[in-house]
Amino acid sequence: MIHLLTAADIPAAMRLKEAAGWNQTEQDWVNLLAAEPEGCFGINCDGALVASAAGVCFPRAQPLPDGRGSVSSALAWIGMVLTAPEYRGRGFARRLMDHTLEFLTRRGVEWVKLDATDMGRPLYARLGFEDEALVERWCLPKVESRPPVDLPAWRLEDFAQLDAAAFGADRTNILRPLAVESAAVPGEGYAMGRPGTKATYFGPCVARSAEAARRLLEWFLARHPGESIFWDLLPGQPEALRLAQEFGFEPRRRLVRMALRGSPGAALFRHDDSAVYAIAGFEYG
Ligand SMILES: CC(C)(COP(=O)(O)OP(=O)(O)OC[C@H]1O[C@@H](n2cnc3c(N)ncnc32)[C@H](O)[C@@H]1OP(=O)(O)O)[C@@H](O)C(=O)NCCC(=O)NCCS
Repeated sequence: MIHLLTAADIPAAMRLKEAAGWNQTEQDWVNLLAAEPEGCFGINCDGALVASAAGVCFPRAQPLPDGRGSVSSALAWIGMVLTAPEYRGRGFARRLMDHTLEFLTRRGVEWVKLDATDMGRPLYARLGFEDEALVERWCLPKVESRPPVDLPAWRLEDFAQLDAAAFGADRTNILRPLAVESAAVPGEGYAMGRPGTKATYFGPCVARSAEAARRLLEWFLARHPGESIFWDLLPGQPEALRLAQEFGFEPRRRLVRMALRGSPGAALFRHDDSAVYAIAGFEYG
């Protein structure tokens, strides 16, 4: 009954996320399917897709001297855990989570993380996930007109290292398709943006300093007058919080970032939230 999601499932998958009021576009499903064609799963019932889950693997940031980095994944991110409202409480999400975790174990993943809603959190806690940090969605309902800010586009080769150190794994497979709109403060940081079905999305933004993040935010807002913006941040990063408040954003939703040790011997997962001014998305990490 569990099957691999393919491009043909995207319209039905969009209906699932619409029922939950989420912001993803069809392109987000395309990105997840492209990043992990064997890791996106669904359950059909009564002839229609009624539940989904997606797990994307990210390789180790730096291959270890023994080469293990080339065969095993350091981290996987689970997202798009959705059950159609009328099919909830029948164990579909639980079965999809079990299936996705089995897939990730086969791929040699050391850690699994996700951003949990209040509805998903009890399920993940029962599977062994532990709280790591709060994640908040902040919203700017309407961007005022601002003078344009001229910045060069993001280039992977300039920021691969900074991003991997912040995130803790090499997420090139996701960053490339997310760079629909991108900018860089050379040597200091980068930001990206993309459309959403409810609001334009700011993120990811990874920077060495709050000044660089501010410049990147100014660049982004200047390009979207009149639009509403979503920005997901880690409130434990005080500079990100301060910038959101200063630019008139308001808190909308609170999720909990959770982590599960995927293989028993996995070393502690190293990452650096202090450089994370905007996450890539609840579904991407
Ligand atoms: C969260 C969600 C995916 C759960 O889907 P589901 O198919 O109803 O979940 P299941 O029936 O598999 O239930 C899974 C477990 O959670 C428990 N559970 C389900 N809904 C619950 C609720 N509202 N409160 C507390 N526990 C709940 C079930 O009892 C079950 O426990 P068990 O594993 O010990 O048997 C679904 O409610 C949903 O789509 N919510 C909106 C989107 C969302 O928030 N997704 C989670 C993103 S992190």
